[in-house]
Amino acid sequence: MRVWVPLDAAAKALGADAVAEALARDFTVTRNGTRGMVWLEPLVEVERDGVRYGYGPVEPGDVAGLVEAIRSRADHPLALGPVEELPWMKGQMRLTFARVGVIDPFSVEEYEAHGGLAGLRRAIEMGPEKIVEEVTESGLRGRGGAGFPTGIKWKTVAGAKAVRKYIVCNADEGDSGSFADRMLMEGDPLTLIEGMAIAGIGVGAVQGYVYIRSEYPDSIRNMEIAIERARRAGILGDSVLGSGHAYDMEVRTGAGAYVCGEETSLLNSLEGKRGVVRAKPPIPALEGFLGRPTVVNNVISLASVPWILTHGGAEYAKLGIGRSKGTIPIQIAGNVKYGGLYEAAFGMSLREIIEDIGGGTASGRPVKAAQVGGPLGAYVPHWNFDVPFGYEELGNKDALLGHAGITVFDDTADMLKLARFAMEFCAVESCGKCTPCRIGSIRGVETIDRIAAGDDADGIPILKDLCNTMKWGSLCALGGFAPFPVMSALTHFPDDFSGRGDQRP
Ligand code: NAI
Ligand code: SF4
Repeated sequence: MRVWVPLDAAAKALGADAVAEALARDFTVTRNGTRGMVWLEPLVEVERDGVRYGYGPVEPGDVAGLVEAIRSRADHPLALGPVEELPWMKGQMRLTFARVGVIDPFSVEEYEAHGGLAGLRRAIEMGPEKIVEEVTESGLRGRGGAGFPTGIKWKTVAGAKAVRKYIVCNADEGDSGSFADRMLMEGDPLTLIEGMAIAGIGVGAVQGYVYIRSEYPDSIRNMEIAIERARRAGILGDSVLGSGHAYDMEVRTGAGAYVCGEETSLLNSLEGKRGVVRAKPPIPALEGFLGRPTVVNNVISLASVPWILTHGGAEYAKLGIGRSKGTIPIQIAGNVKYGGLYEAAFGMSLREIIEDIGGGTASGRPVKAAQVGGPLGAYVPHWNFDVPFGYEELGNKDALLGHAGITVFDDTADMLKLARFAMEFCAVESCGKCTPCRIGSIRGVETIDRIAAGDDADGIPILKDLCNTMKWGSLCALGGFAPFPVMSALTHFPDDFSGRGDQRP
């Protein structure tokens, strides 16, 4: 019998370490990643005859009774039945997250026994050109938010002439309400390592970096352990799995600036410089880290690659809708009954995600809106929830998919205050390089305060004008996207902006 307790940071925040420690007095405990059902954490799993039975959420005080129930196979109030049979698990299509929560994240043997390394082995057989073709055929698009075709990016780097090229994984997951990168790095870091090794062989890079934000100490630790294990197993090094291709990688830690999630400031930071945005062109694919051609991809983009190489790009491209191919790990958060990570093919409606999977609001009140794509994403009003989850489909509603985080709000949400938060966030996180963002966001906060104080007649036209300037005049997505939450709040919920007489904050 094997007992599992997650080591994921969300589970730890809910007391998983204390539960694991208490259970370790009676059983051998293996720490796994999270299954993504955050409301059930800490979720203890007991493996009997090949089936994993869940108990949760378990508190340290529950452990004595739980030990007794596990030993005597008696019923227990926290018993959930077989984990794989829970509706949240059964409804998913876990390709990228197939092993998260299932295996010991540091065991290369378990990784391989659950399908790991098959993609890398096939990639080695295929060679660089075919690897890039396979990723292009899959239709995989950048999961960091911009949705640029990964295969085209790799092709640009592969075709660039240079003595050295690099793979940089953007793990600076700064969007509030986003946690897919973190859960993957903590629960199945070898998948990211495998994806990066495939990218390295595909474009001819021998060195990679995972740039992780300092707020993710568990991800940093888990990635470092997994890299060391991968080196020992010959997955990384002078000859990847004996192929003759060299590829190695290391973790670098960011200091916590949101703008360092923007690829060019990330590269500056990686080079030891201040994290300010560089003008594009040149694009990093041609002049990136240390001026050399660099693949900069998000964690989930790279972690999707092993499945694609194992099963073929065409199989991946069969999933999804329109130009949004494959699966997407959706992160459901905010005022929602069941929050967590849910991987599904593109195409579910927002309504299905929020109401059927998320169970509606935690407060039990009607949903008012959901912010999709992080703090710079638009607020989608509940009457537009039939929109399918896809890049273009959301774009057609003046919204964006971003990193696929959804934050839910009930009918008590004050959309003016949320709009103000977006401008304030932009003002705090602005790198200061360009005027529309640096100055515009501060003027934005002031203008929203003016509207809140009752001056909507003059304030609203100024706010609209300002948003327009920021959207088109900013150098990067931080200043360019801050108008999305503001304008969506103003457009869909005009009543929250008119006739107010708030005290100035
Ligand atoms: P972008 O559209 O400028 O570029 C997308 C990617 O494609 C970049 O890596 C760029 O270098 C590359 N690219 C463009 N043309 C290329 C070519 N011809 N060949 C090869 N590569 C090429 O978008 P950007 O500014 O990189 O990202 C904006 C997005 O970031 C937004 O949509 C937003 O959703 C997202 N975002 C994500 C956050 C997170 O925490 N994950 C935080 C903030 C924003
Ligand atoms: Fe810096 Fe803001 Fe300009 Fe981006 S938009 S370059 S964060 S000042």
